[in-house]
Amino acid sequence: MDKLVVKGPTRLKGNVIISGAKNAAVAIIPATILINGKCVLENVPNISDVKISCDILKDLGAKVEWLGEHELSIDTSSIISSNAPLDKTSKFRASYYLIGSLLGRKLSATVGLPGGCNLGARPIDQHAKAFEALGAKVDISQGKITAKAKKLIGNSIYMDVVSVGATINAMLASVLAEGTTVIENVAKEPHIVDVANFLNTMGADIRGAGTDVIKINGVKQLHGNASYSIVPDQIEAGTFMLSAVASRGDITIKNCITKHLESITAKIIEMGANVETDGGDTIRIWCNKRPLKANIKTAPYPGFPTDMQPQMGVVFSIADGTSIINESIWESRFQYTAELNKMGAKITPQGKTAVFEGVKSLSGSPVYSSDLRAGAALIIAGIIANGETEIYNIHHIDRGYENIEEKFRKLGAKIQRVSE
Ligand code: UD1
Repeated sequence: MDKLVVKGPTRLKGNVIISGAKNAAVAIIPATILINGKCVLENVPNISDVKISCDILKDLGAKVEWLGEHELSIDTSSIISSNAPLDKTSKFRASYYLIGSLLGRKLSATVGLPGGCNLGARPIDQHAKAFEALGAKVDISQGKITAKAKKLIGNSIYMDVVSVGATINAMLASVLAEGTTVIENVAKEPHIVDVANFLNTMGADIRGAGTDVIKINGVKQLHGNASYSIVPDQIEAGTFMLSAVASRGDITIKNCITKHLESITAKIIEMGANVETDGGDTIRIWCNKRPLKANIKTAPYPGFPTDMQPQMGVVFSIADGTSIINESIWESRFQYTAELNKMGAKITPQGKTAVFEGVKSLSGSPVYSSDLRAGAALIIAGIIANGETEIYNIHHIDRGYENIEEKFRKLGAKIQRVSE
């Protein structure tokens, strides 16, 4: 088991280049199943969730080849199986996109239950509802989800909750369905738009991604034989933005889409830090003083992302005054606060709310990463804390951040990966 050892405090300074978005890549890779042919993906992040997605595609019969560090060639014409077993699907959440993709292509999917971060109950009833609306029979039992249909026919689907995963899965299952599907009350995250753009590049007819209503005119087949570059990772960019604020540093973030970062940028300005952007793909964040208190409530895009909540929690833990976080998406997303309290923070979580009484500084401690974004938050905490912080359970972090310690090292952090 590896651990990260961070020695602080350090004021981070320099440039960082953002990788392709994890949450887009882990949806687009299974979406290639719908092509029944070849495509090339560019700007693919080199992270463990992507590697396991590729392994599953190979198990199903696809040919998957890395053409470069961030370029993948995928040929799904040889897919013979529609059965993805639990040993691999349980390793990450996004394995549930295999259901929509296999159902769309082969009218049959048997997929082990998804795993992923433990953020509390993670129901998939809206996914099942969408598949059933298109004509599939869905059964969830004995650790697997089975979806089967004689044929898929477009329909109107109204999502009861705004769900990223259910929106994408409903799109995947309806791309090759007969007729038109209209999905209402959908999520609008950047990676939903990216999946729709990918599918349209390959020949699908999807309109409205990024708004509340998505309309899909079913097509007979996707043509493939095209390249697609994955959108930059909004959450990785946001993580570095908040590391600049927490460490009172000066970081220029490149290869990001500044429009996707607006909810984070607005909070950073409210906390007294400085933001300079070209309005395109570069944003500079610098902070010369202790950040001011603020409050956030997490919400679906374009609200403040739940996946940025723990990183903001680190900033609040050392802010001047008392800040409040209201977590409205996941019930168990405050596990990291116990670790920050070991480092001297004064955080009181209660249900969906946590109160952060800002302290002047944190001190190093052994801490345990409970999930992916909590792990990223603990790295930032280690960078700003006095002394040595050891971070355990870092396999969570490797699922979603490419070369994270190297990127932080280039910004001046004293961070090492140690094998035990
Ligand atoms: C995705 C992201 C995750 C992020 C989350 C919210 C991926 C792989 N994961 O997760 O990093 O934290 O969006 O931005 O892209 N819900 C239901 N029924 C369902 C589905 C969801 O009630 O069928 C509820 C959930 O309990 C949760 C809310 O809807 O409260 C949002 O969940 P959802 O957007 O589906 O999250 P994921 O797609 O799992």
